[in-house]
Amino acid sequence: MSFAEGILNGKSAIVTGGATGIGSSIVRKLGTLGAKVGIVSRKEENLIAAVRAFKEDDGIDVAWRTGDVRDPDGIKNSFDELADEIGGIDILVCNAAGNFICPTEELSWNGWRTVIEIDLNGTFNSCQAALIHLKAAKDGGRIISISTGQAEFGWPGAAHAGAAKSGIQNLMKTISVEWGKYGIRANWVNPGPIKGTEGVDRLIIQQGLEKQVTKNIPLGTFGEGEDIANAIVYLSSDTGRYVSGAGIAVDGGSQWQRFL
Ligand code: COA
Repeated sequence: MSFAEGILNGKSAIVTGGATGIGSSIVRKLGTLGAKVGIVSRKEENLIAAVRAFKEDDGIDVAWRTGDVRDPDGIKNSFDELADEIGGIDILVCNAAGNFICPTEELSWNGWRTVIEIDLNGTFNSCQAALIHLKAAKDGGRIISISTGQAEFGWPGAAHAGAAKSGIQNLMKTISVEWGKYGIRANWVNPGPIKGTEGVDRLIIQQGLEKQVTKNIPLGTFGEGEDIANAIVYLSSDTGRYVSGAGIAVDGGSQWQRFL
């Protein structure tokens, strides 16, 4: 079951961190539904391998640039070059993120700063860099940021990421108000645990938490990258045109399970 073929024809999208994990599922979905997609991430080897796989598996050509969302000037250059190559930016998916488990009392200042810079400042930098292009999007630019349900509750063991992801939601709310006059919609998605991602591997499986986490998912199973990608398509296509400043949980219902 999927969206109508070609629903994103004529759209151009940038996905930060689009070479791996949830980002790569989003790229595949946007690309196969007709969008021209560009990806930015830090590691050239990941980008080259991903672009080859997108072509071989899905028959889509994806443009790419290396870049670190922490570097505002670098990311602006990458976005401008990609926009030239893919025909503007109608859709920005702020997906790049970094995280690791560390109790707050042991977390160094640099560890704290690093995750805040990638997740929160990186989202700000990406929105600023894309703005001129999003303003020109003919059906209204779309920004979708990847947050997490943990942001609503605090995140013991990942204070940096919890604070950053919470900040991302607040930033999307502000941008939805300030940039509404440009026709830009800004929303966020809270993924639950998604199979096969580095995040789930390091934050859940390697911590021995797989059984405990699964027990707390009402639908009883981890999600797939495609589940998140479907929410992104809804928010980036005409179907989501009246949605702005909102979050969608794609987590098997687990956000309401926490205290049971
Ligand atoms: N526990 C405690 N501190 C850690 C840590 C861990 N597991 N991993 C990194 N840090 C600290 C480092 O010690 C360093 O602090 P210090 O200078 O006080 O020692 C600081 O964090 C920065 O680490 P560094 O490795 O230099 O940062 P980086 O920019 O190369 O990497 C990370 C960024 C740390 C987020 C890295 O995990 C990463 O690149 N992740 C990308 C992928 C990812 O996290 N995906 C999951 C998304 S859910």
